Amino acid sequence: MTAGFDIATPNMARVYGYWLGGKDHYAADREEAERLLMTYPPLRDLVRENRAFVIQAVTWAARQGISQFIDLGAGLPASPAVHHAARAVRPTARVAYVDIDPIVLSHARALLATSDGVTAVDADLRDPAAVLTDPDLRAVIDPTRPVAVILGAILHFLDADTARAVITGYARKLAPGSCLIISVACFDDEGVGKRLAAEYTAATWHNHSPADVESFFAGLELVGPGITEAQTWRAWLPEPVLRRRDGHVLAGVGRITRGR
Ligand SMILES: C[S@@+](CC[C@H](N)C(=O)[O-])C[C@H]1O[C@@H](n2cnc3c(N)ncnc32)[C@H](O)[C@@H]1O
Repeated sequence: MTAGFDIATPNMARVYGYWLGGKDHYAADREEAERLLMTYPPLRDLVRENRAFVIQAVTWAARQGISQFIDLGAGLPASPAVHHAARAVRPTARVAYVDIDPIVLSHARALLATSDGVTAVDADLRDPAAVLTDPDLRAVIDPTRPVAVILGAILHFLDADTARAVITGYARKLAPGSCLIISVACFDDEGVGKRLAAEYTAATWHNHSPADVESFFAGLELVGPGITEAQTWRAWLPEPVLRRRDGHVLAGVGRITRGR
């Protein structure tokens, strides 16, 4: 995982932003994004479905009474943003956007200049202890009270062991009543997965199996439908049986009922 101001090299946040229809990207990002769309045309849908899931899950968490949100690997500002969704339900909700990319952080800070209780934090999500004690984060988040931690479309940039260790690291440090909102892109066809991984140069991409994704929720209490495709996750609906394609964003929300 690398980040910086180099505009000649495809950048994870900008490639993703291009797929989402954002405006902050350069030729290298567009070329990479378009090349991957040629390989797997539904990619743009997967990204949009992922955002819709994140917003659904944040809205659900806010309705459950959670008023603090940590968005890990937040990416370039998208609309609606997490703080908009949370504050639509709980107007005083507090949000920390965490990222390591200086461009993402500068956009987030420009956008948030007038929002009290919302902050952008320069930290590596792989280090839960450092994230949760970061002074910028602690200015808006009290980890002794329930928090919703979002890991949206980021765990496929970590190998499965690291992803599990990161999740456990947060789950152990968060108060009971907190939850983890998780989504991971996966491809059933190993050939497609390998080709996408080879063509994606902005970072190392791992095609996690559904069993790996299930293991990310070990020790957490799965909410509502469990782990579903992102576009079908609704906290109040049972698990749908239909799968529409071989590329999925697998998504779920896990509640922390006690330390892991
Ligand atoms: C795919 S994008 C954003 C996805 C966004 N979470 C969503 O669900 O819509 C991933 C973001 O994670 C950030 N990122 C990558 N590795 C990171 C790390 N180790 N710590 C913090 N942020 C990281 C990238 O800079 C990028 O902005």
